[in-house]
Amino acid sequence: MPFVHDTLLSPFDIGSLPLTNRLAVAPMTRVSASADGNASQTMARYYERFAKGGFGLVITEGIYTDRKFAQGYVCQPGITDAEQALAWQATTRGIHAHNSVVFAQLMHAGALSQGNRFVQQSAGPSAVRPKGEQMKFYYGDGPYRVPHAMTDEDIADAIEGFASAARLSVGTANFDGIEIHGANGYLLDQFLTDYTNQRTDRWGGCLRNRIRLTLEVIKAVRDAAGVAPVGVRISQAKVNDYQHKWAEGEAAAETLFGSLADAGVDFIHVTEFEAWQPAFPAGEASLISLARRFAPEVAVIANGGLHTPQHAEQAFNEGANIIALGKAALANPDYPNRLVNRLAIEDFDTSVLGPIADIKHRELV
Ligand SMILES: Cc1cc2nc3c(=O)[nH]c(=O)nc-3n(C[C@H](O)[C@H](O)[C@H](O)COP(=O)(O)O)c2cc1C
Repeated sequence: MPFVHDTLLSPFDIGSLPLTNRLAVAPMTRVSASADGNASQTMARYYERFAKGGFGLVITEGIYTDRKFAQGYVCQPGITDAEQALAWQATTRGIHAHNSVVFAQLMHAGALSQGNRFVQQSAGPSAVRPKGEQMKFYYGDGPYRVPHAMTDEDIADAIEGFASAARLSVGTANFDGIEIHGANGYLLDQFLTDYTNQRTDRWGGCLRNRIRLTLEVIKAVRDAAGVAPVGVRISQAKVNDYQHKWAEGEAAAETLFGSLADAGVDFIHVTEFEAWQPAFPAGEASLISLARRFAPEVAVIANGGLHTPQHAEQAFNEGANIIALGKAALANPDYPNRLVNRLAIEDFDTSVLGPIADIKHRELV
């Protein structure tokens, strides 16, 4: 067995929460909730397979946080009221039954919203049309809408949405922790990104102002989540701009990861297409190693093409504590048990990408 498998299968604590191993399921949107945003029994069975298959940590798909601008997709699950929170209990119960833990990924889609049953408009830091086209795969079509530029009141509502969602996640749905979605081009990343944030108030301009919303959300979620671990997912690439790099290079990483650590996060989840690659054309350091360097006390979850032993090992060497798998977990919901039993790892096949109900997994049909 490759040496790295011992590391992958060894326990790790995030904050005061023990994990049985260092393999996590990465957050994956599946647009499989009911139209009114309730997680379904099918979703519960889908998530349970990962826990049964040995993953120490499951991170949910992005869950919308408020009844204003947060929802991104038709049939995306939400956690905005008691009914939606109660609907998650079957999922958390199924995961806990296998001695695994589950974090809710809290997400505000901002300008990338392409399906929201509460409002017709999308909203973002500035009235800038997002690059690219809506994802057909998630029932969108054509260019994104030009978002409404958020007022101070909208921003306060968005922060309160995250806090309320965190309270419901921990208090009612029985999630073990919270991952704030700060990555991939959604609202918090739109504030962070120079070309989508053209504000001249305290939420825009210099990098420290552009990070402010993420830090305010962390503070509010931290207060709401009690002792449950709270972390944030960070990327350079966006679903609608894969090649994006932070203009300030490693200096941005220093400011960003340092501020996240100061804000008291328990973990930083970094994701890149190939997580072991240098983060910037000038420089050798990956985003994993920059997170480790500038947030030395914080647990680092690494994601992006890390399903082979050599890349997982590289990620650990660069400072990751946990490896999150996306597509490889879809293809192998029992990936950790396969390592233990020395079974082959199946290749990823795009047919598993449809909504969960369409997947021909034996356990689900
Ligand atoms: C079907 C699908 C849905 C995804 N949805 C989300 C999401 O809701 N939130 C998120 O942060 N990332 C999302 N991602 C990105 C994954 O978490 C992960 O970063 C990506 O698949 C790369 O990791 P991998 O190489 O292990 O697959 C999604 C990816 C896939 C394939």
